[in-house]
Amino acid sequence: MINNKYDIKDTSLAEAGKLRIEWASREMPVVKLIRERFAKEKPLTGIQISACLHITTETANLALTLKEGGADVILCASNPLSTQDDAAAALVEYGIPTNAIKGEDEETYYRHINTALNSNPQLTVDDGADLVTTLHTKRSDLIKNVIGGTEETTTGVIRLRSLEKSGKLRYPIIAVNDAQTKYLFDNRYGTGQSTIDGITRATNILWAGKKVVICGYGWCGHGIALRAKGLGAQVIITEVEPVRALEAVMDGYLVMPLVEAARVGDIFITIAGNKNVIDKAHFQLMKDGAILANSGHFNVEVNIPALESLAHSKRRIRPFVDEYTLGDGRHLYLLGEGRLINLAAAEGHPASVMDMSFANQALCLEYMAKNRERLEIRVYPVPEEIDKLVARLKLQSMGINIDSLTPEQEEYLTSWEEGT
Ligand SMILES: NC(=O)c1ccc[n+]([C@@H]2O[C@H](COP(=O)([O-])OP(=O)(O)OC[C@H]3O[C@@H](n4cnc5c(N)ncnc54)[C@H](O)[C@@H]3O)[C@@H](O)[C@H]2O)c1
Repeated sequence: MINNKYDIKDTSLAEAGKLRIEWASREMPVVKLIRERFAKEKPLTGIQISACLHITTETANLALTLKEGGADVILCASNPLSTQDDAAAALVEYGIPTNAIKGEDEETYYRHINTALNSNPQLTVDDGADLVTTLHTKRSDLIKNVIGGTEETTTGVIRLRSLEKSGKLRYPIIAVNDAQTKYLFDNRYGTGQSTIDGITRATNILWAGKKVVICGYGWCGHGIALRAKGLGAQVIITEVEPVRALEAVMDGYLVMPLVEAARVGDIFITIAGNKNVIDKAHFQLMKDGAILANSGHFNVEVNIPALESLAHSKRRIRPFVDEYTLGDGRHLYLLGEGRLINLAAAEGHPASVMDMSFANQALCLEYMAKNRERLEIRVYPVPEEIDKLVARLKLQSMGINIDSLTPEQEEYLTSWEEGT
């Protein structure tokens, strides 16, 4: 179904999508509170927002919140394989033009980004920085209208910081990923649970007793390791950064170079935000039957062209499972075409965790709209008051109270005189 504002798979999926969006909203109380305030205050009145995000039921709740705040929102997918077609159809019915089809090819993916840009955004929301990159390179004539933007993920923030460093960033961006209420929860618990979910749905494997090699012990790696261990797997971490490697050792995991882990692993999960993390030399060492999955942002972490070059045949043995038969007869299984497996084969992060990430998004967009005159062209952290507010509201929604400092303690913590 295509017109000049939206392009989705099938409008008849809208009813199913609406139910799932409603289901997700149950677990998004912080976003709901923001939505209720936005409905009264309309802080985004008349503002055009182009958002490039995974088109999921949680994103739908964010988009509806921004619309309630008075914005005109247009959406496109931030990954060719992460779209939930029913959520996309529901969004179109809710009056939010959406450009996303699960399994779209690269040409369609960029056409959708361009459609989202055609609406002349004043604010951009990105997940991975493909929309911002397109805006800075091929559509730079539109930048004069842009007030600012937000970025959702680690890989996007890395790209935008590089753009800033090269002196070519043209408008202010808030790095939503770097809020504590984002990465400590979304990256760790969200990616942890949903990556295991995606691999389980794709393969139906038993985790107990498996040797699971996790490449990258950042926040996402922490979460995946924790959940794999909880299911009874023997976890091996590979890292390039010594502090993180040491942390993995003391968290109780085996740590070794990938050339060693390659020989013993049953399941390999890349989550490094880097390219060719698993390369030709590693495929050559792997056991027959090894499973490879990626949960990092782009499908570059497993060197797929190298795998293809070693294989003499390939077949799809199950949805999201490609069997590569190598020249020596071994079989390696690549999940979800190397794209982030939690969104390709499962539903992405649970709504409860996206509640915090997207509360940060909504509040940062409001902040940019309000402070547009004062913002410099750079990559900003999330304002601390927003981060703390999201944590407070989440605790409140969970019915959890915490203590507060007494005036005496506050004074003690801001003084130096008192010692032994
Ligand atoms: N699947 C999802 O839903 C989802 C959610 C959040 C983030 N992400 C993506 O996951 C990736 C990781 O995010 P993060 O927040 O954990 O990042 P991070 O920067 O905290 O961690 C990445 C880790 O990988 C390590 N690393 C880099 N190259 C390596 C290599 N060749 N071998 C081993 N380790 C290597 C780094 O030293 C670092 O410790 C990013 O691409 C991010 O955008 C995906």
